[in-house]
Parts: sequence; C-alpha cells; structure tokens
Amino acid sequence: MDRIRIRGGAPLNGTIPISGAKNAALPLMIASLLTEDTLELVNVPRLADISSLLRILSNHGVDHTIAGKRPGQTTETGQTIRLSAKTIIDTTAPYELVSTMRASFWVVAPLLARLGEAKVSMPGGCAIGTRPVDLLIMALERLGAQIEIDAGYVLAKAPRGLKGGEIAFPKVTVGGTHVALMAAALADGTTVIENAAREPEVVDLAACLSKMGARIEGAGSARIVVDGVSRLHGATHEVLPDRIETGTYAMAVAMTGGEVTLENTRPELLESALDVLRQAGVEVSAVNEGIRIRRNGGGIAPVDVTTDPFPGFPTDLQAQFMALMTRAAGTSRIRETIFENRFMHVQELARLGARIQLDGETATIEGVDRLKGAPVMATDLRASVSLVIAALAAEGETMVNRVYHLDRGFERLEDKLARCGAAIERVSG
Ligand code: UD1
Repeated sequence: MDRIRIRGGAPLNGTIPISGAKNAALPLMIASLLTEDTLELVNVPRLADISSLLRILSNHGVDHTIAGKRPGQTTETGQTIRLSAKTIIDTTAPYELVSTMRASFWVVAPLLARLGEAKVSMPGGCAIGTRPVDLLIMALERLGAQIEIDAGYVLAKAPRGLKGGEIAFPKVTVGGTHVALMAAALADGTTVIENAAREPEVVDLAACLSKMGARIEGAGSARIVVDGVSRLHGATHEVLPDRIETGTYAMAVAMTGGEVTLENTRPELLESALDVLRQAGVEVSAVNEGIRIRRNGGGIAPVDVTTDPFPGFPTDLQAQFMALMTRAAGTSRIRETIFENRFMHVQELARLGARIQLDGETATIEGVDRLKGAPVMATDLRASVSLVIAALAAEGETMVNRVYHLDRGFERLEDKLARCGAAIERVSG
C-alpha cells in the first residue's frame, strides 16, 4: 500500500492546475445511460473513482474510449472520455461493484427511466455516517416507480415508463437531486423538484442533460422544473472545475504561507470558503488564470464555521479547514450539520499535536504554536487530505498511511504540491 511522506515547514509558491470536478464527472458519466448515442465528456479527472465507475458502467454494457492526447495537451489537461450506452445488457448493479463507490447507486435513475427496470444494491455503510438512500427512493416513487427492497437490493420497476410528478425533498440532497433530474428527463410530463440542491455539480449535470435534449428550468435554484422528453441524444460537455480541490489547495497555501495561483478554476464556485479564508487573514484575489492565494507574514486568525448545503460552507472542506485552524492564533468552532460522524480526522490531527474537543456536531479547536510530524492514517477522502495540510506545516516528518483514499479524489496531489516547493513524496509498496 502506498504512503505519502511529508517534511513540513516549506511555504508553497507557484501555480497549481485544478482538475475537473470528480463530483460532477460521476453523475455526468452516469447520464450516458440515458441515451443510445455517444456522450463525450471533456476535462474528466484521472482518479480511482472514475475508473471504478467506468467498470460499473461497463457491466451495464456501456462502451467507452479514452481519447489520446492532442497536440498541446499535457497530463495536466483532463481526459476526454466517450461513453456509448447503445445496448444495455444488464440492469443489475451488484453489491461487489456498488459497495466500492456510493455514487454508483445513482445508476438506478437512468436505467429505470430508459428501460423501465433496475436492480441496484444498496450502497451500505460509509465511514462518514449512515448516508441512507430513502430520499432517492422517495423521488423515484413520486415519478411512479414501484420499489421493493429485497436482500440488500433496490428493485425498481416502471413497466409503462415514469410519469412526471412533484418531488419535495425534506432535506437538501445532492444525490437525490441528480437522481430526480435524470429520472424526470425521460418521464412523461412535467416534474417539479422542490428544495433541490443548488450545488454547481447539479447545475453542470442539468447543463449537460439540456445539451442532450432535456428540458430543464431553474437548475441552481431550489425549484427545478423538468418537462420530460421521449428520448435524449448525444452531446459533448466539459466537466466544471473541482471546487473542493480548489478549496483544499487554497487552505494548504493558507497553512504554509506563500503565494500560489490556482489555475482553471473560478471563485464563484466556492465564495463561502474563500470568504472564510479572508477572515482568517489570507489574501484571495480573482485573476485571469483563476484564483490567487497569498499569506505572507501575518498569522492565521481563528474563524467559526458551520457546514451547509451550497452556497454555504461545504462539508467536503470541513476537515481541511479544521487542519488550518489547528495553527490559528486562538480558538475556533466548526459545526458539521451535513454528516454525523464526519470527524474521523480529529484523532489523527491530535497525533500531530492539534488540540480539538468534540461535543456532538461541534468541534472546538484551540490553535497551537506548532505541530509535530508523526505517522497518521487516512480514514476517508477529505479527512486524508486534511492530514496532508497539517503535515505541510508540522515540524519534521509525517507519514500518511492508506493513501488509496486520497487517490480516489485528488489527482497527482504530491506532484502538484511538490512543484510549489513542498517536501512531499509517494513511497510505494
Ligand atoms: C454528495 C457528494 C459528497 C458531499 C455531499 C454533501 C458526490 C459524489 N458526493 O454526496 O462529496 O459531501 O454531496 O455535499 O457528489 N440523505 C438522507 N437520505 C437520502 C440521501 C441523503 O437522509 O436518501 C442525507 C445524508 O445522510 C446527508 C444529507 O442528506 O446527511 C446530504 O447528503 P447528500 O447531499 O445526498 O450527499 P451525497 O449526494 O451522497
């Protein structure tokens, strides 16, 4: 198993290219199941989760080709993947595959909408909380699906096709909104989605579905209206920049000091997180290439943060922000309102000398003058990268174990950081 070795203390200076968003690429790839034609996706990140989803889609009969590099392209440019679901050979998504990645459960929507049936394994437990699928099932039922749960599988049927309906989510759910959009796109009649997620990845999926011929109004607001069509066609779509990767590197620079330009990304994708960084004393500016982050001299001020659905502070940046606050000049509080249990990084950060107290959904972080390197263990995707951020500012050497979590969501992390002056390397085996 690979590990990452970090020697802390160096400031970050230079440029970091931001990849396409994993959390947009996944639903976009799943949307390929909605049409017999080819869907071409540009700027897809090279990540373990993308490869896992390609395997899952292949199992349903989706063919894919990954385009070779064109002149002028480097490994920093995302890949172009063409997906063709001309013939779907299997409407079952088995446990062995779905359990490797939760988002693959979302295939239930396009399979049901296009073929009238799907059998998809329930995703099972997850390190960051129970993460149920009840709201996704509710959304499909509102569109007329008959759903049974049997031996760990969701059996969904709509022999005469889905019918437009009202879906009012009692809680904002990104996956629920993706599922509702994909199902409603091919349903007969109009669907209204209330309390829809407003995340940029939802807007990106809606934009791609619209290029495929779907009729969608209001994506990015809490009320989305979808007029179903009888078939969708192929399209080409570029995946939007990864706002979580952007915020992660912004926090890394805030932690170490220095000046880094985050390229190919946009401030409006993460205003709330950038605002919090400004309050912490970091200079954030929009530039032509993307976003410039700078902290020279001044210390890190403590800031209280509550995670919320977009446009609030994202739960996927909570662990990284906590790492930053471990070095703040004072005490800060972080409330996690999206996922219970998403504090797995606290104990590992404590191994580096952080002082954090947990009380229900609130963590109180008392900033310390110095962190000290130690062996630590990655527990989930975002938690792992918070350990990297802490290690970049810790004295001496930190070894991050179980980095396969990082590879699920961060493309060439050690390479991107090393080019900006971090002493970081991957140790194989
Ligand atoms: C997506 C993101 C994940 C991010 C999360 C919240 C992807 C691949 N993953 O996950 O990185 O942390 O949004 O921004 O895009 N819930 C229910 N019942 C359901 C569905 C969800 O109670 O049927 C709850 C969840 O337990 C959680 C909340 O709703 O408390 C939000 O979850 P949701 O937005 O659905 O997260 P995901 O789409 O799984």
